[in-house]
Amino acid sequence: MDASNGNSAKSATLTIGEQSWDLPILKGSIGPDVVDIGKLYGQTGMFTYDPGFTSTASCESSITYIDGDEGILLYRGYPIEQLAESGDFLETCYLLLYGELPTAAQKADFDYRVTRHTMVHEQMSRFFHGFRRDAHPMAVLVASVGALSAFYHDSTDIADPQQRMIASIRMIAKMPTLAAMAYKYTVGQPFVYPKNDLDYSSNFLRMCFSVPCEEYKVNPILSRAIDRIFILHADHEQNASTSTVRLAGSSGANPFACIAAGIACLWGPAHGGANEAALKMLGEIGSVDRIPEYIKRAKDKNDPFRLMGFGHRVYKNYDPRAKIMQKTCHEVLGELGIKDDPLLDIAVELERIALQDEYFVERKLYPNIDFYSGITLRALGFPTSMFTVLFALARTVGWIGQWKEMIEDPGQRIGRPRQLYTGATSRDYIPIARRK
Ligand code: SDX
Repeated sequence: MDASNGNSAKSATLTIGEQSWDLPILKGSIGPDVVDIGKLYGQTGMFTYDPGFTSTASCESSITYIDGDEGILLYRGYPIEQLAESGDFLETCYLLLYGELPTAAQKADFDYRVTRHTMVHEQMSRFFHGFRRDAHPMAVLVASVGALSAFYHDSTDIADPQQRMIASIRMIAKMPTLAAMAYKYTVGQPFVYPKNDLDYSSNFLRMCFSVPCEEYKVNPILSRAIDRIFILHADHEQNASTSTVRLAGSSGANPFACIAAGIACLWGPAHGGANEAALKMLGEIGSVDRIPEYIKRAKDKNDPFRLMGFGHRVYKNYDPRAKIMQKTCHEVLGELGIKDDPLLDIAVELERIALQDEYFVERKLYPNIDFYSGITLRALGFPTSMFTVLFALARTVGWIGQWKEMIEDPGQRIGRPRQLYTGATSRDYIPIARRK
């Protein structure tokens, strides 16, 4: 295939044998151009082949842009560093949903609407009591979010823009409540209702850590830290769980079911489960002098061990979120008076060694957002089993924003990939008596 005229090419030419086809090249506002292969099968009788979608754009979007080589992440054009420094998470939610930063009045109205949807139907608490106490909170979250479609029938008609927005607000508002309930249930403490006079992240910390026996005082430094962690995790273009939400939504499934599908996908250790896996890995390494042994294992093709929290499909430079995460980690440990966290010492030394090692340098493997988040979340008081729950809580706005964008795209149709078939060709049935 060769582009007909260099960078300003309007089309690419595909030549197979004696035949050639011109495929349109589409340009975005920034980032790689795309070759439109929508008519390829009809024209050539062939599919393209790209397992893992390393070279495939699955959709057009205007929400989040990543430049993996430069380590750039923009939410609606705003650099993540500026949003994490200056705004709060609900401002980022507004930006991702509506496309612009809110005015003071719009922000106040959005905060008001989200705050007043933070309670869940009282029957949900009975739903929770069907689980074993040692259930993984992610299992509880997948189930309870999917169950929301059994309660909120007035916001499941995806054709109605009003209902789409109510469902979006409900999802953003109720995730902290459900996440806190999942945590309280596993530690055997009573559920804590949200309070309307607290901001989003303070409300979440209080629902997780307050007990009926005493007043809970929110630490503003810690609440700001968790709010910033939510901003960092809010959206990330077409990652595995967002693509799952889009594919589920393309069939017309209700938004709660789509978000539940996204949570299920995020749970995997190669994706959102990496924060839990990274902390467990640091614990397994146990001391700085054992780092070389694990670096060796990570490089050994016969060893399934990988450095969790390292590497990324898109970032071939430092994940910009990891830098902010590392800074937040030091802030939280400092505020809590944790002078030396042995796991942080191992993480810092592991990063230093890996970034000098040819194997990691050659493959452009850098720490990603999950490398330092576990140490921070553990310091905040969360058990490792809650780390991916917090990731899901934050990513809900990204999932629902991308879902809305897809539903509102006039060209939207059900996603249905094809395959390269390498199985048995057609053959006749053999009655069991005649099988050898
Ligand atoms: C998230 O997509 C997103 O945007 C995700 C996310 C988001 O915000 O939604 O950013 C969140 O999921 C971050 C990633 C969290 N996962 C981990 O930290 C798990 C450890 N990382 C790897 O499993 C891996 O790096 C992935 C899954 C993140 C990326 O996998 P790719 O793009 O398929 O890369 P690859 O597996 O093809 O790796 C390329 C090479 C291979 O070596 P070679 O075959 O070329 O010799 O790099 C090696 C891999 O073996 N490699 C690693 C490694 N990651 C890749 N080797 C050791 N340790 C690692 N962590």
